[in-house]
Amino acid sequence: MGVFYDWQWPDLGLNKPNDWICWPAAFGLVFLGPIFGTAMVDALAGVTDGFGAWLFGLGGFVMAADQETIAVYDHKIQDYAALKPDPQQDKAMRDFSAQLPPGARVLDYGCGPGAFARAFADQGFEVEAFDASKEMVALTQADPRIMAWQARFEEFQALHRYDGVWASFSLLHAPRDLMPDLLMAIQGALKPNGCLTLALKLGSGSRRDSLGRLYTYYSLSELRGLLTKAKFDWLNHIEGKSIGLDGTQSDWAIVHTRVFDD
Ligand SMILES: C[S@@+](CC[C@H](N)C(=O)[O-])C[C@H]1O[C@@H](n2cnc3c(N)ncnc32)[C@H](O)[C@@H]1O
Repeated sequence: MGVFYDWQWPDLGLNKPNDWICWPAAFGLVFLGPIFGTAMVDALAGVTDGFGAWLFGLGGFVMAADQETIAVYDHKIQDYAALKPDPQQDKAMRDFSAQLPPGARVLDYGCGPGAFARAFADQGFEVEAFDASKEMVALTQADPRIMAWQARFEEFQALHRYDGVWASFSLLHAPRDLMPDLLMAIQGALKPNGCLTLALKLGSGSRRDSLGRLYTYYSLSELRGLLTKAKFDWLNHIEGKSIGLDGTQSDWAIVHTRVFDD
């Protein structure tokens, strides 16, 4: 009723509603409500739904700021899929798998062409995967053992569903300010004691590479703080250097973590 504020009742310090607004409104609710009740609610819901859809659209516009990165992956899918696998990354994948129970459910978070998802399926895991690139998802879906879908990081939600989440060089494309929420969403998607392995590029700041992909770089200490805040225990990590799709060499880290046992 604050919006109907007219003047303050003396002594009480309370706002008195404006008679010209509150009495007609009360009349509407008491007499018209029972007659047109559902129609009134539907009409109001229609207005707020429309506003919600508009807000959602605006959100989509804001989040689509990363479209340039996704477009590079859509267009360069063959070049990306042809990159030589790094033996250290393969070893990290085996170390991640070794922590999981037989038949574990694994999520490949930002799966790219699905090479790791296929390797997980080869080991008998139940594999799910998502990526924002339509082309990457189509390639991953070509293997019927993998349930893959197109989504952006911000859209991902699940509750205690996975034994392990493998986020290999995908979250480096998320804006830094989204990272705490994205890590919390992964934490919620993991079963108790579930594992997250996270691969990111090392450095500072954010910038586009020569292909137009937007990267966010992290130091190990910043990463440690973020993971601890999101309730992950840092088990161990490896560091390395590789030449990426843009032909330049970058430093990276792969961190093995596990959800805190509260
Ligand atoms: C460097 S590739 C890594 C692919 C794969 N995980 C691997 O290790 O080979 C980064 C992947 O992240 C995906 N990606 C980038 N931004 C994304 C976003 N906002 N939401 C979901 N996926 C995204 C890209 O489409 C791309 O497939």
